[in-house]
Amino acid sequence: MLVVIKENYDDMSKAGAQQVASLVREKPDCVLGFATGSTPLGMYRELIRMHTEEGLDFSKVVTFNLDEYVGLRPSHKQSYHYFMYENLFKFINVDQRYVHIPMGMAEDIDAHCAWYEQKINEFGGIDLQILGIGANGHIAFNEPGSSLGSRTRIKTLSAKTVRDNARFFKKPDEVPRYALTMGVGTIMEAKRLLLLASGAVKADAIKATVEGPITAKYPATIVQLHRYATIIIDKEASSKLEETYL
Ligand code: GLP
Repeated sequence: MLVVIKENYDDMSKAGAQQVASLVREKPDCVLGFATGSTPLGMYRELIRMHTEEGLDFSKVVTFNLDEYVGLRPSHKQSYHYFMYENLFKFINVDQRYVHIPMGMAEDIDAHCAWYEQKINEFGGIDLQILGIGANGHIAFNEPGSSLGSRTRIKTLSAKTVRDNARFFKKPDEVPRYALTMGVGTIMEAKRLLLLASGAVKADAIKATVEGPITAKYPATIVQLHRYATIIIDKEASSKLEETYL
């Protein structure tokens, strides 16, 4: 596990974008796993800049997103579909036919999740999976207690995640209680992982992820078992680490 500590959010975002860009240049038809949340926004802005100013070409890239809320239409402003188009896909030349995001409105959820897993396999697996981390140590929507071998499925969101998300919705009863999410096992099959975290609010989760025992209580701790995991964090997110890193 490579732990890279950057001075601030901007430097973290640029370092993350460089990893993504070098893979896209090396393998133009690579399969990228994208994440939502506030953390990767700076990295997405930098990728947009690289596309606009440097011609970074996404036309052959295949994408798979980690998760989506159940019950939200793709056009809903809080859906992860909407997020990805508004914050990245609209501004780069990704081919819509190669974009995959779980469908929160799927009628047959189990069949849809199985299809999603199958699609990832058809494209040869995910080359690089980008990850954020919840303050409670969740990755994607694999909440504490998730099976560390889990596959894409429906998950009940923890009370903490529902509370954390409430600020984005007008009324409390609009906040989704369920999500479709790649499983921890699905994520671990990606050839490389790139986990980003910023801010003191993530310091406990990062300490557990980097230095704690592997436990389903903090699903992100499983990345310790991945052979090619890079964790790029800013100083604040690193503030509780005991060892010295880069
Ligand atoms: C949500 C997403 C996660 C993300 C997490 C942290 O729960 N499902 O993929 O990592 O939020 O979000 P933020 O980056 O805004 O702290």
